[in-house]
Amino acid sequence: MNSTMKAALITHYKQATPTIQNVPVPEVGPNDVLVKIMAASINPIDLKTKDGDLRMLLKYKMPLILGSDFAGTITQIGSQVTDFKVGDAVYGRPQDDHIGTFAEYIAVDQSDIAHKPQNLSFEEAAAIPLVSLTSYQALHDLMSIQPNQKVLIQAGSGGVGTIAIQLAKQLGAFVATTTSTKNIDLVRSLGADQVIDYKQTQFDEVLFDYDYVFDTLGGESLEKAFKIVKPGGKIVSIAGMPNVRFAKAFGLPIWKQLLIGAASHKLTKLEKVHQVQYDFLFMKSSGQELEVIRQLIESDKLHPIIDRIVDFSDLPDAFAYSRSGRAKGKIIIKMTDPQE
Ligand SMILES: NC(=O)c1ccc[n+]([C@@H]2O[C@H](COP(=O)([O-])OP(=O)(O)OC[C@H]3O[C@@H](n4cnc5c(N)ncnc54)[C@H](OP(=O)(O)O)[C@@H]3O)[C@@H](O)[C@H]2O)c1
Repeated sequence: MNSTMKAALITHYKQATPTIQNVPVPEVGPNDVLVKIMAASINPIDLKTKDGDLRMLLKYKMPLILGSDFAGTITQIGSQVTDFKVGDAVYGRPQDDHIGTFAEYIAVDQSDIAHKPQNLSFEEAAAIPLVSLTSYQALHDLMSIQPNQKVLIQAGSGGVGTIAIQLAKQLGAFVATTTSTKNIDLVRSLGADQVIDYKQTQFDEVLFDYDYVFDTLGGESLEKAFKIVKPGGKIVSIAGMPNVRFAKAFGLPIWKQLLIGAASHKLTKLEKVHQVQYDFLFMKSSGQELEVIRQLIESDKLHPIIDRIVDFSDLPDAFAYSRSGRAKGKIIIKMTDPQE
């Protein structure tokens, strides 16, 4: 095996685009597996990481290889690895401090991966980890949605939304979602019961008495969401301001807790006025949850929606497309030709 690999990295925050360079293949720790990456997906967090927008929460050393999820084949295992062997096809989301999936190889902890769903190609499997873990942690872990409860999923046509709609339907929920006219058929095909074309209708004028909102937009949409949730209900946001509860649970120092408390003051006030709990979710890697998701996919209860598949060399264009905010499902980066 080569001792170097191609990887897309940045040397400083706000670099215009990552550059593809030769770097050493990562070393494999005792609990790691080395994966030859076949495909990775773009997530908006990759752009936020590049731009330094997550510095309040995460510290990275430069140069930094970007990329947050992948599918590929194990080529080496560490001395303590028990659940996987060389040759296994796997998919995963490395921990926040071990990202770097826009590369030919990654060394990843065995607890962050699961076997790839057998009915998906590597490109399809790479569409799954980050968005499905995020959706599962919001809808299952934080909301514990029960049959017939009502949930609004914002941006149903996005990477997160396309999976969240399907998962919420699996949990038995009544699902409303927002999207624009061109994506209405898509979100209906995923199971959405009520579709709001956000270019024509304000969701807070037509929805009421909801149990939950899964907010993927933040800003004004998040503030309006409080109006549609019934007292005792919950809003989980992945795009709004973190609050003090989150800052404490995330282990941030007191000065950051105070800053976050001040910045999220309006949301805390809305919580009290509407008697609705507001939680910010920062998704976590979990091989165990990816195993649950694998089973849903293999029993045809969940499937990825892919906007486009692009070659590794076209990563800068794919970043620009992701930034446009118009992706319909996932943008996949093809790292390796399976015929090689
Ligand atoms: N905190 C976390 O752990 C976490 C995890 C995952 C994602 N996130 C964040 O969650 C957000 C969504 O991620 P994503 O991967 O789903 O993004 P994405 O795939 O880039 O979302 C694109 C989609 O958003 C839709 N959209 C844009 N504006 C909208 C609006 N005002 N109302 C309804 N739909 C709208 C677009 O549909 P149209 O073309 O029809 O407008 C498009 O299909 C990002 O900010 C991301 O960083 C956070």
